[in-house]
Amino acid sequence: MALRTLDSLGSLSGKRVIVRCDLNVPLRDGVITDDGRVRASLPTLKALADAGARVIVCSHLGRPDGAPDPQYSLEPVAQRLSELLTVPVAFATDTVGDSARDTVAGLGDGEIAVLENLRFNPGETSKDDATREAFAAELAELGDALVSDGFGVVHRKQASVYDLADLLPSAAGLLIAAELDVLDRLTENPQRPYTVVLGGSKVSDKLGVISHLLPRVDRLLIGGGMLFTFLAAEGHAVASSLLEKDQLETVRGYIAEAKERGVELVLPTDVVVASGFAADADHETVAADAIEQSSFGASGIGLDIGPDTAAVFAQAVRESKTVFWNGPMGVFEFPAFAAGTKAVAQALTEVDGLGVVGGGDSAAAVRQLGFSDDQFGHISTGGGASLEFLEGKKLPGLTVLGWE
Ligand code: 3PG
Repeated sequence: MALRTLDSLGSLSGKRVIVRCDLNVPLRDGVITDDGRVRASLPTLKALADAGARVIVCSHLGRPDGAPDPQYSLEPVAQRLSELLTVPVAFATDTVGDSARDTVAGLGDGEIAVLENLRFNPGETSKDDATREAFAAELAELGDALVSDGFGVVHRKQASVYDLADLLPSAAGLLIAAELDVLDRLTENPQRPYTVVLGGSKVSDKLGVISHLLPRVDRLLIGGGMLFTFLAAEGHAVASSLLEKDQLETVRGYIAEAKERGVELVLPTDVVVASGFAADADHETVAADAIEQSSFGASGIGLDIGPDTAAVFAQAVRESKTVFWNGPMGVFEFPAFAAGTKAVAQALTEVDGLGVVGGGDSAAAVRQLGFSDDQFGHISTGGGASLEFLEGKKLPGLTVLGWE
């Protein structure tokens, strides 16, 4: 079966349409620091409003404990949505209670409302099927149809992502359709050379994707905190850098497999080592096999790939026809350790082919470093979701929409 798209829902004029978005945006002191996911949700919301639907937007934000928690309120997101759409957006202060019912009842055709954070209700994320289904049934009463468009959350078997889609006529929105279009090009006959750049702190988060990608890619470049586990697996001392000792054997296995398959597994040859984990920490560049010989000795912490590595990675990216990048190369939040991430991002904008930024931290990084979305082939809104997709997993929020 193919993905059910908006057309499959027929005319939505005058209908109450619940739209499950992923509006899980980073907030600092109640202010949105990266509104990429809000912007990405606009095409579907506009299309539905233009079609005369009564649009009920719902989402999670953060990981509250199944009860209201003001720091995770979606109210600032509703305000941002209103600014971007330049129309009033109503806000319900609960998920399925009086405020939600009254807000939905007050919607006219083409108007938009946002419900409070779905995870304020324990039913949303419950592992118990009946509890989840009960919450989904309450949500279903608010609408006549469901448009599922929160790509970033399709890997979660949660009430609004999974159970609700069986209770109402449901289809994928434009964002999910666009994301799948691009990610499919990474899995079905990608143009070659195909390079994957992986960073971020933990190897253990990337195990599935590394083993699934090794037989499929031409080059795998490793940066970020996890590079130190790779260097240690090759026998190098990494001082006080991040190290997942329990992954050393697995990583040795990857290195051996890459050799056997003729995949270029490219590890850093130099790294930026700091005296501590701080924006203003003293730092110096050393060879990747001489981390303990830095002036900081055994207390040095590697916080970025070095300039030689950044140049090699950038060249490899630029020469490729297909590139997927997930995970920053260093602690990009600190300007002194952002150069590696910036070099990879810059190279990705120069790819003559398809260059994809895979969600989460990497998406936030490129925007924070001053790049704009349209410089890249695609910026996925899904961090975990895009990785699990590339691992070849069946994602519950997609299978329930007919995707196979
Ligand atoms: C994300 O940020 O990756 C998605 O919004 C999913 O959030 P979660 O990991 O809290 O389920």
